[in-house]
Amino acid sequence: MSNDKKPTNMGRPGMHALGKKEKPRDIKKTLKRIFSYTNEYKFRLTVIFFAVIVYASAGVAGTYMLKPLINNYIVPFIGKSDTDLSGFITMLLLMAAVYLLGVIAILTATRLMVGVSTGTLLKIRLDLFAAMEKLPLKYHDNHTQGELMSRFTNDVDALRDMISQGIIQLINAGLTVISIFIVMLVLSPVLTALMLVMLLIMIQIIKFIGKRSRNYFVKQQNALGKLNGYIEEIIEGQKVVKVFCYEQNSKESFNERNEVLRKSAAGAYTFANILMPIMGNLSYINFAITAAIGGMLVVFGRLDIGTIGAYLQYTRSFSQPLTQASGIFNAVLSALAGAERIFAVIDEEPETDDGDITLVNAEFDEAGQITESSCRTGLWAWKQIKENNEAFLTPLRGDVRFIDAYFSYDGEHNVLKNIDLYAKPGQKIALVGSTGAGKTTITNLLTRFYDLDQGKILYDGINIKRIKKDDLRHSLAMVLQDTHLFTGTVMENIRYGRLSAGDDEVITAARRANADFFISHLPQGYQTVITADGANLSQGQRQLLAIARAAVADPPVLILDEATSSIDTRTEALIEQGMNDLMLGRTVFVIAHRLSTVRNAAAIIVLENGQIIERGSHNELLALQARYYQLYTGMFELT
Ligand SMILES: Nc1ncnc2c1ncn2[C@@H]1O[C@H](COP(=O)(O)OP(=O)(O)O)[C@@H](O)[C@H]1O
Ligand SMILES: [Mg+2]
Repeated sequence: MSNDKKPTNMGRPGMHALGKKEKPRDIKKTLKRIFSYTNEYKFRLTVIFFAVIVYASAGVAGTYMLKPLINNYIVPFIGKSDTDLSGFITMLLLMAAVYLLGVIAILTATRLMVGVSTGTLLKIRLDLFAAMEKLPLKYHDNHTQGELMSRFTNDVDALRDMISQGIIQLINAGLTVISIFIVMLVLSPVLTALMLVMLLIMIQIIKFIGKRSRNYFVKQQNALGKLNGYIEEIIEGQKVVKVFCYEQNSKESFNERNEVLRKSAAGAYTFANILMPIMGNLSYINFAITAAIGGMLVVFGRLDIGTIGAYLQYTRSFSQPLTQASGIFNAVLSALAGAERIFAVIDEEPETDDGDITLVNAEFDEAGQITESSCRTGLWAWKQIKENNEAFLTPLRGDVRFIDAYFSYDGEHNVLKNIDLYAKPGQKIALVGSTGAGKTTITNLLTRFYDLDQGKILYDGINIKRIKKDDLRHSLAMVLQDTHLFTGTVMENIRYGRLSAGDDEVITAARRANADFFISHLPQGYQTVITADGANLSQGQRQLLAIARAAVADPPVLILDEATSSIDTRTEALIEQGMNDLMLGRTVFVIAHRLSTVRNAAAIIVLENGQIIERGSHNELLALQARYYQLYTGMFELT
């Protein structure tokens, strides 16, 4: 995923106007919402607004001063030798002062805008991140990671450009164009009419080129997307590429995409790049015609020299903000479209939680009654507030029951059907079955990443829907097949299981998980920094860290989903020893390929196509000589 900042197109005339057109759905609503983030900057925004007005007026006024300068101080002095220049100098100084005022105003506005835009973006990013963390897992089933990433990168970038530069430029361009137009009209209606004709011609040319170019820009955008996607894929799959000697092929495939990009980019820029010289030359032609006709008007006494001097200056400064404005306008539109996508994520229905039963630390008082405790006792209880506001505690035991559970991810195909199973406190329950049978789905339901369609899950006799999700998940620890490690030290990564754990607790947990041995051989031991999702560790070592993480969490219920699949059998046996004493009296769900590791489970549940087809102890299932027997003996034939 690239998070490189794309070059800003703000203020680059023409370019954006030719690019892909994106339209926001509701400009007013989106702008309103963006401005709701700038509430604390109201004062600054007002100052900025007036500063831009000052800047735009200074430009127009400064130019206007050419007229009296020429008419009153230059023309009368022509051919005279002995003249008093003091008035002329005062006039020049005044002009300089006006321009200086404009410069100060725009510097102030831009400087203030930096604070406003960065502050606003800070808040928007914060909201976006918070919303992202509240998204239900379901959201990720039909949205890619890249999509979500580009909310944080491209869309936020475009929005920043719009707020920091676009708004000022747009206001300035608008004000300048309108005021120059009015002044020009006052100076000379005839010349202004002429200019309008020229302007119409220019607009036609922009339109003509724009139409040709836009298609290429869209093509270029698509080609770029495909090329980047391909690069990303190949970088990620470098190992596979190398091992299957796919280098030459991938180079050829890359080249094809590269060529498509070159062609469309060439098309796009041929037109875009000729636009600027054409426009430039047209404005020179415009200038020349205006000067010629203006000169004639002066000769015939219809205009004075000062007017034509100022007017010509305006001609030059008129077309620039105009072409700029159309570019900025499109950039603003696409930034608004991006803002709408950001707000769509923020508005996404968060993962709901209507549970009211919480998990608390507990202890037994002298009378043998369970009571809530303020410190970590190693004993937990479910706390339920009754109608009379009295707290009712049920000890957490780790009794889990699925009762006639049905579930489907898509609302059409049942992934789990008629699931009935129970795990008594302290039991180790194994789920076995072929890939896709629904084993992981069972654990997804227990953690409430997804909710059942039918049936119920009872946890210590409580329907898990009534338990607060955070607390439910606190009581479970999961070790998955692929471990996610964060950038940080080994110590921090293990501590992720329980942030309050001290260093000694982390080390004890690592010993239990049998990870201590390899950690002590790392260059900086527990302080070794793990990078890029643990790329500097082996798959098995990463799993050991994940198990240590679960051990430090010290949960009443543990879910091991193929957690030891990359660990050698000897280490696995050692882990089991370590975990056995940790898990004493706790409930464990084990999903494992290697059936040798589930032999000692209290119950083995065999799933097939989302249904339980066999259950019982290892010996019972073997005696049955059915599916489990096949799986088990099959494995031994293989090894
Ligand atoms: N997020 C998901 N969205 C849609 N279908 C899914 C999702 N996760 C798993 N499935 C489907 O559900 C079925 C069971 O998957 P799973 O429980 O992961 O099997 P396994 O027994 O291998 O752990 C499979 O057919 C799988 O394709
Ligand atoms: Mg699975």
